This record gives sequence, C-alpha cells and structure tokens, in this order.
Amino acid sequence: MCGIVGYVGPQGALDVVLEGLRRLEYRGYDSAGVALLSDGELSTAKKAGKLANLEKELAEQPLPAATIGIGHTRWATHGGPSDRNAHPHVSADGTVAVIHNGIIENFAALRAECEASGIEFSSETDTEVVAHLLAAVYEATPEGEGRLAEAMRGVCQRLEGAFTLVATHVAEPDTLVAARRSSPLVVGVGDGEYFLGSDVAAFIGHTREARELGQDQVVEIDRTRGLTVTGFDGTPAEPKAYTVDWDAAAAEKGGYDWFMLKEIAEQPQAVADTLLGRLGENGELLLDEVRLSDEELRDIDKIFVVSCGTSYHAGLIAKYAIEHWTRIPVEVEVASEFRYRDPVLDRSTLVIVISQSGETMDTLMALRHAKEQKARVLAICNANGSTIPRESDAVLYTHAGPEIAVASTKAFLSQIVACYLVGLFLAQVRGIKYEDEIAAIVDDLRRLPEAVEKVLEQMEPVRALGRSLADANTILFLGRHVGFPVALEGALKLKELAYIHAEGFAAGELKHGPIAVIDQGTPVVVIVPSPRSRNSVHGKVVSNIQEVRARGARTIVIAEEGDEDVVPYADHLIRVPRTPTLMAPVVTTVPLQVLSCEIADTRGFDVDQPRNLAKSVTVE
Ligand code: F6R
Repeated sequence: MCGIVGYVGPQGALDVVLEGLRRLEYRGYDSAGVALLSDGELSTAKKAGKLANLEKELAEQPLPAATIGIGHTRWATHGGPSDRNAHPHVSADGTVAVIHNGIIENFAALRAECEASGIEFSSETDTEVVAHLLAAVYEATPEGEGRLAEAMRGVCQRLEGAFTLVATHVAEPDTLVAARRSSPLVVGVGDGEYFLGSDVAAFIGHTREARELGQDQVVEIDRTRGLTVTGFDGTPAEPKAYTVDWDAAAAEKGGYDWFMLKEIAEQPQAVADTLLGRLGENGELLLDEVRLSDEELRDIDKIFVVSCGTSYHAGLIAKYAIEHWTRIPVEVEVASEFRYRDPVLDRSTLVIVISQSGETMDTLMALRHAKEQKARVLAICNANGSTIPRESDAVLYTHAGPEIAVASTKAFLSQIVACYLVGLFLAQVRGIKYEDEIAAIVDDLRRLPEAVEKVLEQMEPVRALGRSLADANTILFLGRHVGFPVALEGALKLKELAYIHAEGFAAGELKHGPIAVIDQGTPVVVIVPSPRSRNSVHGKVVSNIQEVRARGARTIVIAEEGDEDVVPYADHLIRVPRTPTLMAPVVTTVPLQVLSCEIADTRGFDVDQPRNLAKSVTVE
C-alpha cells in the first residue's frame, strides 16, 4: 500500500522521486503526487490514477527545480481516489507538506479541533490533519536546529493508529523529517545524499546502504548535519545499518511481459537461494540465524503459524510437514482472526509468522499479541529491514529477491521451503528424527530447484489451456492432504488476477455440498497426489475426478509423470515430475500460477497490478 519517497542531495529531486515512485508502483495505488522545496517555496503536483497522469501534469506545468522533495503513491482509505485527496497535503498556511502511509485513527477528533480554530480542509483524508497540526506545532516550537523534528515528535505523540509520515517545511530548506509507528520506512544513505522509502525498492537504483528505523522513531535528514534519529520522546537512537542484497536489475522486468512471469521463472533460484548455506554436508540443518536456544526449541509444546493470503497457504502446507516430522501440534490461522479470538499462548508456544513483505499489518498485530502473551515468535520473511522480522525473537529469511508483481509466486515457494527447514531443524534439535532420516529429507529438498525447472519447461500447453479458459465464469480447484492448500492457492491466484470466481476445496468435502455447483462444462482443476503417497489418498482423488466428470465437469488434472490411473478421466492432463508427497506443493503450484497469469493476460488485465489490490497491506 502507499508508496513513500523522499530525497535530499545534489541531484534534481523530481527525477529521483519519480523514479522511486515508479519502483514502488507494484505496491498498488490509485493516485500520486510530489512536493518540491526550492527558494523557500513549496510546489506540489498531484493526480488521481496512474503515475503517467502525474507525469503528464508535470510536463504541462513544470515545477521549479529543487534538490529536496517528497513523493507519494496513495491507496485510498479515507476519501476516494481523487486529485484533491492525493498526497502531499499542504497546511492551510502553506508552510508544511506531508505524505503519509497508514491510518490516523483519531483523525476525526483532530480535524474537529483544527476546524474549530478556523482551518478549512481541502480533502477528505485523515492525513491532512497532520499537515495543519505540524504547521501549528512548528510555530509554537522554539527556533533552533532540529525544530521541524521537534514539532514532528510533538505531533506524533497526539496521533493514534499506524503511520509513516514524511514532512518538509518552507523554513527548513535543507531538511526532511520522517516518523514511523507500525508502518514501513527505510532510509537510504548515498554519497552526500539521503533517501527515504517505504521499502528499499525506492532507492536501490542509487544506493544499497540502508538504515532501519525502530518503532515510534523520528528521523531528521539534513543536508549538512546528516541523519539524526530519536524516539517520539526525544531520546537519541542509533538506527541499524544494513546493506541491501538486492540489486536494481532484480527489480526490473528483464525482457518478460510481466514481472509475474519473470518471478515465476525465478522460482528454481528462489528455492535454491533459500536453501543455500542452510544444509550441511552430512545432511544436517544449519540454522544459526534462528536465535532461539536449543533449550527454548526443546520446550516448545505447540506451534501456531499465522499469516495472510498466499503466506497463509504456505502455513497450511507447512502444518503437514512440521507435525509429521516433529510430532508437535500445529495450528494455522489467518492473522486477522488470530488475536481477536484470544488464542491459548504461553512461553512454550512457538508462533511462526510468515510474511513476504514483513509489513502486513494483520500479521504484525498478531505477532505483537503473541509476544504480549510471552510466546516465542519466529518470522519467515523476504524483506530485510522490515518491521515483522525486527520485532520477532528469531527470523529465517527467504531469499527470493524482490517480488514486484502483486500476486505472490516465488515468495510462496520459498516460504514453503523455509517452513520445512524450521520443521526439520526442530526435529533435529529435539532428536525426534534420526540423522539419516533428516539427511534423506534434506536430499529431497535439494532436488526441488531442478524439479521446478522441469515444470517450467513444460508450460506451453498450460498457457494454451489458459487461453481456452478465459471465458469461464467459475473454476473449481480440488486437492487432498497437501494438495488441499495448493487448491486454495490456485483459486486465490485466479481470483486476484483474472477476476473469475474460483474456490478451492478439500476433494473429499465436495460430496458434502459444493458438488451441486458443477454443471455441464464447469472447469475443475484437480491436484492429484502421488500414487506412492501414504494414506492411499491417490485412489480417493481419482474417484473424486470421476465424480465431478460424471456431473459434466471439464477436468484439468495435475498429476505426476507415470500416473496412468488418471488418464481416462482427464480432459486436460498437466504432468509434473515425481516428487515425495510433502514436497509436491512446490511443483504442483507452478502450473496454477502460469494458468492464472495466462487467463488474466488473455482477458486483457494488468497481471502485475490487479484491481483493488496492494502488494503490502499495511492497514488492518
Ligand atoms: C496473493 C498475495 C497476498 C499476500 C498477503 C500477505 O498473491 O500476494 O495474499 O500473500 O497479502 O502478504 P505478506 O506475505 O507480505 O504478509
């Protein structure tokens, strides 16, 4: 959601800010704007719609050149997407410009207060109150160095909710001030220049040196004084320095029509990189980065996996493996429900939070709730420097590289693999599995990148199938065991990209109601487990295919090479390489991603930025 960019340095600020906004487009937005500060004057431009609209406006009515500026892409919450609701918002006296990500929960009371003092609002946003308050508090703050930062601290103490704010004031022509509470903000440090961004994509074209800000902190960036960080109460703080390991090319399309296609193709690498350095020569797990002691890991008697959307599906898959390998009970829950039902948590509970972005508000709130209840929290995350890993007791990074397309693909596969590493590590530390058993599973993991590569080589017929399904009204997805969460993920991908109604079902549940919706020609995708699978679910799924086909369904069957049982009942057969049961989701998900991408593309939709969606959901 909302992209934030700030720049102070020798370069033309407008170009740097627009480039940053372009790189943040993937977060999802519906309007955009910039504010520049030059010769003690603020100038702004803002437009509803895509960045191109803003760029057109800027071409027609250029702003004065400046070397300090802020920019914003807005994902509407308070007030619809319009020119006037777009950020930056400027105070009534014209001294302050502010951009904001998050929600100011007490904005109504603050707005009433400002209106009572005679201020007229020019937008329906919650953000505008910050501009007016900041201007007023600035006036009341004694003159001197750091006055804007001091005023920002004063304002932040009055705000409720989650926010990242960046502000500039006409009286401080060399300074930007930013604040964060439960909302993302990172600082980039270049040679004599500074950048602010919702995430590092905003500035990786310029620098890979970054600073991580903590909760409730204000950062002042001054052209001569450099960078100063304090808490909202004024206590000096030292930001954590880190080097971004993504390069700018990783966040570019590299010849693909869509980022999503590139990211699907990168999956073998994402899986390999997530395993890299974590598998020992003798088949043991090397997870030194999991900062929980062996004793703490041995004490765990219950695991919760908490996450949202696709990351939740990774958790559902992980449950099968972690319970099987560790014999510890695992519950998987969507983060937005978790804390509101008062889950039973204590010191012996391990809560695994999974988040690609590391900024999902629902997941962050669930994490905080778990910590309040004294549970240990382990984050599985793809974004270094983000809030979720920073607030967790331990973290295992997925090394998928930047995921730009809104629909998650390579992050999902790497999350499954990271969860498996955690499960196996627990089994190793707790002595539940013999060394050779762990080594055998590690071998299976090592073979996954190649297996995914093979699936990718056979995707042409899947694309053709996708084109033939572009007019479908509904598509159902069925699976059993680990194939069930894969079915849920297949349905989610289709809904979010192609806007076609889709549902995933446990194949065995079908007869208990949903089979009634199957009609002549209804496409039904079935994820078939290996014929060698335990619990003989294979035979049952083959029966389920026959059941839906007998009711007129057009069956699309995903089955491993050599499974001849499915052939008579498959209208379309998609082959995947033979893979051990628990590893199968890593290969069976891939054709579902390709299918959704192709259907959406055929229907003429923006595959990378589907309507109504944001890459990182930073509000509850
Ligand atoms: C779907 C998708 C979303 C995210 C969800 C959680 O393709 O991308 O469902 O998985 O919003 O996001 P993270 O993993 O960043 O917490």
